Amino acid sequence: MKRIAFLVSGSGTNMENLIKRIKAEEICAEAAVVISNKPGVKAIEKAAALGVKTVVIDHKAYADRTAFDQALSECLEKHRVDIIVLAGFMRILTEGFVKKYHGRLINIHPALLPAFPGAHAIKDAWDAKVKETGVTVHFVDTGVDTGPVILQRKIRVLPDDTLETLEARIHSLEYEIYPQALNLVLSGK
Ligand code: GAR
Repeated sequence: MKRIAFLVSGSGTNMENLIKRIKAEEICAEAAVVISNKPGVKAIEKAAALGVKTVVIDHKAYADRTAFDQALSECLEKHRVDIIVLAGFMRILTEGFVKKYHGRLINIHPALLPAFPGAHAIKDAWDAKVKETGVTVHFVDTGVDTGPVILQRKIRVLPDDTLETLEARIHSLEYEIYPQALNLVLSGK
């Protein structure tokens, strides 16, 4: 069974959803480890509550991105990880790291990439008054929120939407498509 590492930085709701689906055998994989680059985040509490091994690699303790990514890579090797799932991991990875894990590193982004990359995609799309937005799951390459798309799903921005209702609908869509995309990757499709 393929071993998955989840990389997180915040609330961890996508990670929690995916681990629950692994436990429910809707995703045929093993949750090997959850790694956060920030101490004290909700994602770590959630992973621990689900009984999954957690590791904090505080990026502030490392001199630069290369040193941090080296520590990350060592941790992934130690846990014999096959696939790395970024789930709200808000840190740019170095080219060396991305190349090493080519084809095994996936990310979810709350917009229809290539539109609205970056850390505030839902608000950026809202401020741009788009009529539709959505969610993208993609392989990670050396750019920020770029790389081949695995799955993408659109939603319409409704006339009575607020930023909050739009955010909630985007997150619900994430919880649907990230498991589907991960299953596609696991099955080699
Ligand atoms: C998710 O909406 C994810 O798409 C987004 O961060 C949120 C993390 O929430 N990622 C990005 O914006 C990546 N550029 P979560 O920690 O509750 O899963």
